[in-house]
Amino acid sequence: MAHSIAVIGGDGIGSEVLAEALKVVGATGVRLDTKSFELGAKHYLSTGEVLDDSTLTELRDFDAILLGAVGPAIGSTEIPPGTLERGLLLKLRFALDLYINQRPFRSPDTSPTYVGKHVDMVVIRENTEGTYAGEGGFLRKGTPHEIATQGSVNTRFGVERAIRYAFSLAMSRPRRHLTLVHKTNVLTFAGDLWQRTFDEVAMEFPEVTVAYNHVDAACIYMVEAPERYDVIVTDNLFGDILTDLAGAISGGIGLAASGNLNPERTSPSLFEPVHGAAHDIVGTGRANPTAAIRSAAMMLEFLGEKDAALKIFNALESVPEPGLKTDEVGTYYAERI
Ligand code: IPM
Ligand code: MN
Repeated sequence: MAHSIAVIGGDGIGSEVLAEALKVVGATGVRLDTKSFELGAKHYLSTGEVLDDSTLTELRDFDAILLGAVGPAIGSTEIPPGTLERGLLLKLRFALDLYINQRPFRSPDTSPTYVGKHVDMVVIRENTEGTYAGEGGFLRKGTPHEIATQGSVNTRFGVERAIRYAFSLAMSRPRRHLTLVHKTNVLTFAGDLWQRTFDEVAMEFPEVTVAYNHVDAACIYMVEAPERYDVIVTDNLFGDILTDLAGAISGGIGLAASGNLNPERTSPSLFEPVHGAAHDIVGTGRANPTAAIRSAAMMLEFLGEKDAALKIFNALESVPEPGLKTDEVGTYYAERI
């Protein structure tokens, strides 16, 4: 049976990298029944809609969603900041309750990293709350006394399910180690909820060894001693920032993949590279499709296609010589399946 997949190329290099991901999936023999959705900046500018209700309803019926990238070019003024990000990607994360953002970082054994060390860690980023929830607003906007607030929403329910997922994941890995990253020394309300919840759930997982790092210190450790980390669990915004850093230290953001997961499978999960739309390199063949290929492999794994996923993960252990174009990198990996 073919899996039904919604393909959202989105903006910039999104569709270029997805084409290569689909090429590599094709080489595994797994059949996907894909439907493309033209969403993103162009769609918004021509229709005034980012993601309408009927499209959202239609998306709910797919087995998974594969997304390229979302966002207008830096400096473009046609689209107000956040319109596409909040209206498309975050709307999908929230509406489909994709509460886990799983971001694995594993440098290929054969290739050196910027920090000169092998990196093998997974960041579990809470994906529906925190400062992303949209709490806040303006008062006295446009006056000299203008006020803007942007609150961080942390529910016991949301924090606990993310932490519980991270503990289970840590249990499935050889090291069985989990680090909570937060800023409990300053964010004394949210941090307290996270730490207390973490400590309580930890009692159910006595085999998992635990650590806590403040997020600023975690940035140092990630660069100087990434071997400290196995699984990390953190809130939405810290997770956003930390995963760009983790991408940079583990071989480059061009390799970093992610799964926005609904572990209960009450709606389709969404798989996407961590990188953005990179409008500056559209059409140059310089976009690295590796992150999209790895994201597609995560999708296959989630859909139960373990063998095919493993074939792609194994292929990704080899690294092509520098200078290959986007489609040549896709072909390189397709040939290694
Ligand atoms: C990411 C991206 C998104 C985020 C943007 C595009 C809304 O940076 O997936 O990391 O901030 O979550
Ligand atoms: Mn990000």
